[in-house]
Amino acid sequence: MSHANTPTPRRFQPGAPLTGRIAVPGDKSISHRSLMFGALAVGRTTAKGLLEGEDVMATAAALRAMGAAIVRSDDGTWIIDGVGVGGLLQPETALEMGNSGTSTRLLMGLVASHGVTATFTGDASLSKRPMGRVTEPLSLMGADFTSSPGGRLPLTMRGAHPAVPIEYRLPVASAQVKSAVLIAGLNTPGVTRVIEPVATRDHTERMLTGFGADLSVEEIDGTRIIDIRGEAELKPQDIIVPGDPSSAAFFVVAALLVPGSDLIVANVGLNPTRAALFDVLRAMGGSIEELDRRDVGGEPVADLRVRHSELSGIEVDPAVAPAMIDEFPVLFVAASLARGRTVTTGLDELRVKESDRLAAMAEALTLAGANIEEREDGLVIEGTGGEPLRGTSGERVTTHLDHRIAMSMAVAGLASRDGVEIDDTSPIATSFPTFEALLAQALAA
Ligand code: S3P
Repeated sequence: MSHANTPTPRRFQPGAPLTGRIAVPGDKSISHRSLMFGALAVGRTTAKGLLEGEDVMATAAALRAMGAAIVRSDDGTWIIDGVGVGGLLQPETALEMGNSGTSTRLLMGLVASHGVTATFTGDASLSKRPMGRVTEPLSLMGADFTSSPGGRLPLTMRGAHPAVPIEYRLPVASAQVKSAVLIAGLNTPGVTRVIEPVATRDHTERMLTGFGADLSVEEIDGTRIIDIRGEAELKPQDIIVPGDPSSAAFFVVAALLVPGSDLIVANVGLNPTRAALFDVLRAMGGSIEELDRRDVGGEPVADLRVRHSELSGIEVDPAVAPAMIDEFPVLFVAASLARGRTVTTGLDELRVKESDRLAAMAEALTLAGANIEEREDGLVIEGTGGEPLRGTSGERVTTHLDHRIAMSMAVAGLASRDGVEIDDTSPIATSFPTFEALLAQALAA
């Protein structure tokens, strides 16, 4: 599945404050994993609040092509009848991954220890992204790959059965690489070990434990050692997917920046491996209050009350980067209106996301009138001290098939004098199909 081929430009204008209450859709990472682990369980898994974005739908389609039955019931609950670990079938056609790196890399882990051959294809953005980071450890487990030049998609892989357990130290802080190896470990006899020097989002560990896998995590001096024992038998689960903090981020920053805003963003997942943006924004002076903190499906969740605030620039500790890796584009927007200088470092990974997010945001924000210096591993931003950005006139911001560039620059438009015109809103549907409707709701409340 892939979003519309015809670009849909739109100008995002300054206007009313953001008020009332909105609830963001389900977490993308947890939604992908709900489908994958449900497909590998024996019996029926249900998932409520699943994100119905294009990326997650690409995962569903691929799992169906490999034998799982996945349907949406009328009340919005997703029902997954799993094939059991080891039970995946040979897909008859290529697995079309659209824009989704998470679908691709995690499913490659899944195929790696099953005796099936699968071809992965993707859109122009995904076809530029590095896959060597997963093909390398999965090759050590016995899978075989024929990739396009540079280790990219389209790529055909043959899974190994039985696969060989490995001990793998992650060379990059990547939850996708960690998860690919652990998922391959599910159908590999013996213990597969991943050593993670820098913690990344831990949904795979939490959820596989919930599904009954024999998985342990030990932490020694900040390094995490994760062991999974195959061949696992997963027990089906009834899952409630919390709201996605990465989607909430756009509304939180918009409410901080637009004068008069007082918005409640409900049902926001606050897993500590995901929620660093909110801490950074508070340290900048942002008023973000947690209401009704609770537990949803094993994850901490709260409603966030966000009020317009005067922000100050900050030096962001690179150690927190993995816990807000998808939130830097919108943090750059916040920094562009803060008082003083914001410095970010250690963000090389942003160059291999759906776009090169350092270059794309530097270009886009500069076009909108912000003061940005692009460095090798981060941006340095001199904020306006609360003055709206100028906005764009005549030229359009290029989103490079990247949903988060599109939504970040939409927020910049709300906080500008003349509005910001972006070249294409269609990539937003990959992760947040209701973004524009919720924005209209918050502006009209
Ligand atoms: C994700 C991990 C992150 C993140 C992506 C989702 C996941 O990617 O950027 O949006 O669900 O595991 P990396 O592992 O490449 O950092």
